[in-house]
Amino acid sequence: MTLDLEQIRKDTPGVNHCIHLNNCGASLPPQPVMDAISEHQHLEATIGGYEAAAQAQDKLERMYDAIAKLINCSREEVAFIENATRAWDMAFYSFDFQPGDCIITAMAEYASNYIAYLQVARKHGLTIKVVPNDEFGQLSIKALESLIDEDVKLISVVHVPTNGGLVNPAEAVGKIARANNIPFLLDTCQSIGQMPVDVDALHADIIIGTGRKYLRGPRGTGFLYVRDSLIEQLEPPFLDLQAATWTGRDQFEIRKDARRFETWERHVAGQIGLGVAVDYALDLGLENIYDRIQTLADSLRHQLAALPSITVRDLGQEQCGIVTFTSDQKTPEQIQTGLSKRNTNTSLSQAPSTLLDMNQRGLETVIRAGVHYYNTEEEIITLVDTIEEILKEDG
Ligand SMILES: Cc1ncc(COP(=O)(O)O)c(C=O)c1O
Repeated sequence: MTLDLEQIRKDTPGVNHCIHLNNCGASLPPQPVMDAISEHQHLEATIGGYEAAAQAQDKLERMYDAIAKLINCSREEVAFIENATRAWDMAFYSFDFQPGDCIITAMAEYASNYIAYLQVARKHGLTIKVVPNDEFGQLSIKALESLIDEDVKLISVVHVPTNGGLVNPAEAVGKIARANNIPFLLDTCQSIGQMPVDVDALHADIIIGTGRKYLRGPRGTGFLYVRDSLIEQLEPPFLDLQAATWTGRDQFEIRKDARRFETWERHVAGQIGLGVAVDYALDLGLENIYDRIQTLADSLRHQLAALPSITVRDLGQEQCGIVTFTSDQKTPEQIQTGLSKRNTNTSLSQAPSTLLDMNQRGLETVIRAGVHYYNTEEEIITLVDTIEEILKEDG
């Protein structure tokens, strides 16, 4: 099936105002998502927030089923959390790490995750091992295998990094983790919504996602998946009356499903909107979405590579919608600002976001153009023409 681009763009009013290539920052939401959010907010203002939530129970519950369908798990394994970082934290800080334990991660690790490793390593005397890249610039499966020993308590990597098109070989990592009985935490913040993510196929025990990026959901929404066999082993670092029940003066009981990682108060309209966004992606089909994104991204990479002063920076054997580049003529800031002045949204990714990788490659900043399925070949051509124009400008 090919996507009905005309309908998709009709559903996306934002495409009439800008060329939006900051989908790795936040995508343009489709109309059904905006309608769901504004309808609920209107209801809250009309009959009261608690009363509106009670009326919207089915829509709120739909979010769990939609995510479960998206990633191939059960609804009991899904928690709604306000962003990917907190979702990741709630899982990570639940592990009962002991001195001498080891966490394995990889070169493209995201700053917030790595900062958490450092904090826990300092507090509890852990070691952090970083898998080097292979010849393609993705985490080396051979090197990973050689790092496994009985001290390894967690393998935690990003599927797609914040700073490029790399798709790490997550399935192969998951196989090694499973074979060695080590929990596997996969950060799918940038991959969810742009490609199929199946927790069983990837052998992932924990994944996190955010609403606003490739899923085209609202800001301030995210989710956590934890495999059922692991849920009861993980005691969340924070508990509230949603996560646990106060059963006696000296007692409480923690929920048995993934909602133990949630808090009670939430962006209700956002949760509804996230469910609608996931359903929208499911209707289009994740395979179709990824096919189109890869076609557009490949085209952009080829056109950029043909410009004399541009270097495309994406690593890996498999590459997704995040296209990164630099120029030896203009700074990334100059190019991004020039594009922004012409209504073309890209973003910058700076070294501290993915320090290990950027330092290894001697990069300070890259420009990110994250293409989505609703972008067009014409927009890609306009982007490249505009970059050429900016490169010719004085100063
Ligand atoms: C790879 C990766 N992980 C995690 C995050 C954090 O997501 P959030 O901002 O929703 O907490 C990001 C955000 O850019 C990311 O790129």
